[in-house]
Amino acid sequence: MHEQLEGTVVAITGASSGIGAATAEHLAAHGARVVLGARRGDRLEEVVGRIAASGGDAIGVVVDVTRREDLARLVGAAVERHGRLDVLVSNAGTMAISPFDDLRQDDWDAMVATNLTGVLNGIGAALPVFRRQRSGQFVHVASTAAYVVKVPQGVYAATKTAVKVLTEGLRQESGPDLRVTLVSPGFTDTEGVGKGASPAAAAALDRQRREVAMPPSAVASAVGYAIAQPAGVDISEVVVRPTAQG
Ligand SMILES: NC(=O)c1ccc[n+]([C@@H]2O[C@H](COP(=O)([O-])OP(=O)(O)OC[C@H]3O[C@@H](n4cnc5c(N)ncnc54)[C@H](OP(=O)(O)O)[C@@H]3O)[C@@H](O)[C@H]2O)c1
Repeated sequence: MHEQLEGTVVAITGASSGIGAATAEHLAAHGARVVLGARRGDRLEEVVGRIAASGGDAIGVVVDVTRREDLARLVGAAVERHGRLDVLVSNAGTMAISPFDDLRQDDWDAMVATNLTGVLNGIGAALPVFRRQRSGQFVHVASTAAYVVKVPQGVYAATKTAVKVLTEGLRQESGPDLRVTLVSPGFTDTEGVGKGASPAAAAALDRQRREVAMPPSAVASAVGYAIAQPAGVDISEVVVRPTAQG
């Protein structure tokens, strides 16, 4: 049990499945009070229900991270219910990868809007709250794609690299009271792998998912570790990947 997580108020985007849902369940099991955002209300309610059934404290808020006002609502729900927000985990993302020659420009736009603008919308909503409280932590979920570009992940990797860069910039501006953490997972076994990708890319990803992927709980523990540090200690960057990943 991470004692430092007890009572911590954590909002998580993309909490209806995969890494976000696993993080919500992990943190709630350690006593955090979680406020969960995603677009699919039914899937959010399933996660909230599982947490409540284990004695945890969770609510769900239907949000689309591409909309500024939705992030303001998510942060507002945490402050209204708990009087504060300690951590915002910006995890929502889409991995609709494809070769450039396919010209799937709607997917490019969606990856930029969700993976990059979604994180900026989180900063816009939570930073004033954190400044007012003189405490708070941003946890941004990037990817090993922020470190190594692989075909055909150019646009996806660009969004995650941008998140890595802006997170470091935010860290440098945010002291001494705030903490800023980048968590970059490698191949993780979630329903998002291959979702919306071109058929060839989806088939390759599905094979890798079966062969090398780690469970989303591995990423959840890394997030929990970063949050559980004492005040004044910032785990700035974590890369967590399966041992089998090249
Ligand atoms: N799986 C991997 O191998 C891997 C590796 C590195 C990094 N990541 C990153 O990890 C994060 C989570 O992905 P995952 O693997 O857990 O996949 P996932 O199960 O598909 O989860 C993605 C989450 O993001 C939410 N989401 C997508 N677009 C959204 C939007 N516009 N507004 C609000 N929520 C939105 C989805 O919920 P709704 O559809 O209900 O909105 C879902 O809860 C992503 O940022 C991904 O890039 C994953």
